[in-house]
Amino acid sequence: MSGYLDVSGLHVYYGGIHALHGIDISVNRGEIVSVVGVNGAGKSTLMWSIAGALPVARGSVTLDGVRLPPRPHEIVALGISLVPERRRLFTALSVEENLIMGAIRRSDKDMAERDRERCFTLYPVLKERLRQRAGTLSGGEQQMLAIARALMSRPSLLMLDEPSLGLAPIVTESLFDTICQIRDEGMTVLLVEQNAFQALEISDRGYVMQSGEIVASGTSRELLENRLIRKAYLGE
Ligand SMILES: Nc1ncnc2c1ncn2[C@@H]1O[C@H](COP(=O)(O)OP(=O)(O)OP(=O)(O)O)[C@@H](O)[C@H]1O
Ligand SMILES: [Mg+2]
Repeated sequence: MSGYLDVSGLHVYYGGIHALHGIDISVNRGEIVSVVGVNGAGKSTLMWSIAGALPVARGSVTLDGVRLPPRPHEIVALGISLVPERRRLFTALSVEENLIMGAIRRSDKDMAERDRERCFTLYPVLKERLRQRAGTLSGGEQQMLAIARALMSRPSLLMLDEPSLGLAPIVTESLFDTICQIRDEGMTVLLVEQNAFQALEISDRGYVMQSGEIVASGTSRELLENRLIRKAYLGE
């Protein structure tokens, strides 16, 4: 494999529980790649492992051919940013303060200011709510803020863990439109979703995960047209 992000033979355990059984995925520069699968498939475990928050027992993760350093903040510095499941915002802080937290390790304050403006172009509502506490935003707005906060570290690879969780289909649709915009601006996106249909619709390629293994992969079109996958994951 030789993608931008390469995950190869990844095994991860929670104590005695073998959660990931040798995962191989690869994401090329400028792609949106989805990992879809039902509850407990191991999708979040995969995200946390790439982000350096869970120890990797075996296997490797490389970005642009370089093996990832062990610690989460070093991985962020390399250009990988994770928007975790359930957003994990600083709910007591304002929108503005959350964005500041996203840029906390940056020294290039001018560029950070420019990135902030870019976030407001993507999500104008955040500018209107700058002084509002994050915990008082709607679900969709909180997800926008979580993505904007991640963008403030200026990643080259943005990883999103179930951004559609708890959102109405129409809110999800407009959020997914912005994920396409982010990709169009040159970022690479790894998207994890239980909402397989909508995720694959905006993705270039996809992987189907089940019980800690990749059980199918292909272009999004191939996966969307696969009869068994439609039956198992798309509710047909
Ligand atoms: N902290 C933990 N300790 C022990 N087992 C865990 C822990 N977190 C997850 N697991 C187990 O690892 C497996 C994969 O869980 P994971 O959360 O990665 O799945 P997921 O695909 O993200 O599911 P969901 O769609 O519900 O978010 C599950 O069997 C789960 O019970
Ligand atoms: Mg999960």
